Amino acid sequence: MQDTSLRALTARFRARFGAEPRLFSAPGRVNLIGEHTDYNDGFVLPMAIDSRTYVAAAARSDRRFRVHSEEMNELIDFDLDAPPHARRGLWGDYVEGTARSLDKRNMPVSGADLWIRSDIPPGAGLSSSAALEVAVGYALVRLRDPSEPDRRKLALAAQAAEHEYVGTLCGIMDQFIVALATRDHALSIDCRSLETRPIPLRLGSLRIVICDTTVRHALATSEYNARRAECQKGVTVLSRLDPNIRSLRDVSEELLNRGEPLLQRETFRRCRHVVREIERTVSAVSALESGNFNAFGELMRASHASLRDDYEVSCRELDVAVETAASVPGVFGARMTGGGFGGSAIALVEEASIPFLLERLELHSRKEFGIVPKFLTVSQPSNGVCEHALED
Ligand code: GLA
Repeated sequence: MQDTSLRALTARFRARFGAEPRLFSAPGRVNLIGEHTDYNDGFVLPMAIDSRTYVAAAARSDRRFRVHSEEMNELIDFDLDAPPHARRGLWGDYVEGTARSLDKRNMPVSGADLWIRSDIPPGAGLSSSAALEVAVGYALVRLRDPSEPDRRKLALAAQAAEHEYVGTLCGIMDQFIVALATRDHALSIDCRSLETRPIPLRLGSLRIVICDTTVRHALATSEYNARRAECQKGVTVLSRLDPNIRSLRDVSEELLNRGEPLLQRETFRRCRHVVREIERTVSAVSALESGNFNAFGELMRASHASLRDDYEVSCRELDVAVETAASVPGVFGARMTGGGFGGSAIALVEEASIPFLLERLELHSRKEFGIVPKFLTVSQPSNGVCEHALED
């Protein structure tokens, strides 16, 4: 967002709440590879994008919150000393959930007035929820204590808010990348040890094109939680073969094949996706580090096929986007990104091929589904949650 829009945001805050705000923001993300591996203790490789959620915030002397969302044109309020609101299934759940989760986890917050504005399309699989949680959480913690907070603790509190208040049993990837991203780097996250390693992304003349299908399937949350349960079922059965197995991270393909007769067909395929995707993610980091984009693109293709056929979290609109992208010269690889059931696909592509790619994607989406997709082009990864200094 331009400096002038940021100034306009703070002006609206002043007019509404009559106080001088500080300004914070957190990015959306795409996951380059490592899908549905985070809650299986595996590896993921996300990066932050330029679209961000902005929070103008001023502390209050009590424990009340007044929160305005510009996109929803709606004001909610709550009091940390009063019982929590019942889940409303709305944006406000993320805000109230985060405030309560921080307070509960020894990152004390006081009341605040907040004005929220976001460039991240909701439901596009670009982590608009994690951006909202982490931007609000960072703002609240910094209003109380000017020193830099523990970003991992903040991310974990935001994830807990999602489990406890929103009802999605998400892994740690989204909150971690939003909190810990560094400019020009993707982030390799070991979701078991929570160790992170920034991986420089030297794209040269390549770009990442995000194609938001604009399709949002209602079953995303229930199917997400169902996949998670299915993986757990696989672990329970496979641990009969090896009692040391704690998660699918501990399962080799060889062990999985030995366990095949014990597993229901569907559970086997779910586990196979996870076991292979963890391996692909490790290989993808090496490919990126050695600048081997052909190999990286190949891994993206394999990841998508596995999400479509074994894990069954893709949908026709995403498959068509990925197939279309794959047929365009100059595209190294393409896949769905995020939880699935709608949302976005990404393609790694030569900059010069982008106009043709967008034309093809739009044509096929219109023809097959009567839908016009939305596009974002990323040339470099963005930074994580931060405070903005506004010069007068
Ligand atoms: C959603 C979740 C993440 C992760 C992805 C799938 O984005 O929030 O934790 O599981 O789906 O990789």
